[in-house]
Amino acid sequence: MISFEEIIIIDKSLRIPVFMQITNSIIHNIRSGLLKSGLKLPGSRELASTLKIHRKTLQTAYDELMAQGWVEIIPRKGTFIVRDLPEIKPAKIPFSQQLKRYPDGTAFSIDEKRIPLYPSSNSTAPGSLILDDGLPDIRLAPTEYLLKEYKSLSNLSAFRKYYGYGGPRGTAYLLETLSVFLSETRGLLISEKNILITRGAQMGFYLAARLLLKPGDNVIVGEPGYFAANITFRNEGAHINRVPVDEFGIDVDIIESLCKKKEIKLLYVIPHHNYPTTVTLIPERRLRLLELAARYKFAIIEDDYDYDFQYNCSPVLPMASLDQHGNTIYIGTLTKTLVPAIRMGFVVAPENYINAISNLRRALDWQGDSMMEVAIAQIYKNGTIERHIKKAVKLYRERRDYFCTQLKEKIDKHITFKIPDGGMAVWTKFNDIDLKMVAEKALKKGLMMNDGSLFNNGNKNYNSARLGFASLNLDEQNKAIEIIKESIQ
Ligand SMILES: Cc1ncc(COP(=O)(O)O)c(C=O)c1O
Repeated sequence: MISFEEIIIIDKSLRIPVFMQITNSIIHNIRSGLLKSGLKLPGSRELASTLKIHRKTLQTAYDELMAQGWVEIIPRKGTFIVRDLPEIKPAKIPFSQQLKRYPDGTAFSIDEKRIPLYPSSNSTAPGSLILDDGLPDIRLAPTEYLLKEYKSLSNLSAFRKYYGYGGPRGTAYLLETLSVFLSETRGLLISEKNILITRGAQMGFYLAARLLLKPGDNVIVGEPGYFAANITFRNEGAHINRVPVDEFGIDVDIIESLCKKKEIKLLYVIPHHNYPTTVTLIPERRLRLLELAARYKFAIIEDDYDYDFQYNCSPVLPMASLDQHGNTIYIGTLTKTLVPAIRMGFVVAPENYINAISNLRRALDWQGDSMMEVAIAQIYKNGTIERHIKKAVKLYRERRDYFCTQLKEKIDKHITFKIPDGGMAVWTKFNDIDLKMVAEKALKKGLMMNDGSLFNNGNKNYNSARLGFASLNLDEQNKAIEIIKESIQ
């Protein structure tokens, strides 16, 4: 006689619903052979009373077992374990042909030159403090609201239409919401036809590079600049022309002289808080860039990844909001506004460009995550995103001020930096000491920080790091700076 009380294990402290725990227990016991095909299960009233649970819960478990094909109801007789169990058994392969070991590599060749060399993400030692290169504090992100929207939407039958395939540009609801939001907040006179939702800014760079560049084409980027975008352009075979970035942004005189010498296909600029140096491109230079782009007919990628995080004054309106000629491809992302793991960004451009990259995107990624896009649209619509930005800007401003004060107080004579007017990091030059060595020592003391090698280019060693202040609270900042101080000494 089988004791169901013993074989069905229920733990009410678990987050798995009780009916699912019962379902899983019964399936487990069928698989293990204890509950055999054809066996009659106790009636729901009887078993519910044995297990001391509500009869409805037990009935739900039986319904689930039936839906999965493990049990059947025979009218007027009861619930039975089916004779043909729903297990799909793989066809047996003769032992002699079975793999003893998975291959270490492919038998076909892979052209190493076609593999873009992005730096690998650093693995973190458990328990170590991370001084990142300018990331948001994930503890603040309104993910709870986002997930609440996601969950509540999933209960609506109208939401089910997003379960299927959709278009490559993104769900109409987010496109419409974002076009209104960007018109109101960034002066972009656009409709939903001018937007494509991406998985982060990086996808926007890739699509532009794939569509516009061929080997040998000239691309202009800032120096020092954003490695991830540069690698993407180089991977299409483009020739990268590096133009210095000074305290007012990228040097437009040098860009003009390059335009006079060769055909420029693409200019990549970071208008707010240039990566890595954190400077903002001044309005005069923005206007001149637009004039040059119109005159020499090159495309501008305006990577406004950090638009929302401005501490001393309002952000400068995007070049895309002033461009009458249609040279600007405006790229934004939610990486800083929410969290990097929610892969969502957008490209704003004239309609023909959006149509072209929509088709191109399909080759890589048939469509975005429609269900998450609708939930994101909801948190734009109900004001959650704007409230979060306001709150985060206030807090990050305080963290920036505290961090810079501590840098000055504790290690001032070893470093040079300017207080950034926005963004999430301080571009810090180490004067008299090797940054790589400092980062190595800091790691041994439990602090992970960038060693600046990402920003170096060829023979140029800036001996500088981006020290991210936004993701650390004041206590964590103190600890991090203390470790840097000890590592310098
Ligand atoms: C200059 C720059 N652009 C864009 C991004 C964001 O990229 P993504 O949206 O792909 O996460 C970052 C992230 O740090 C960045 O530094």
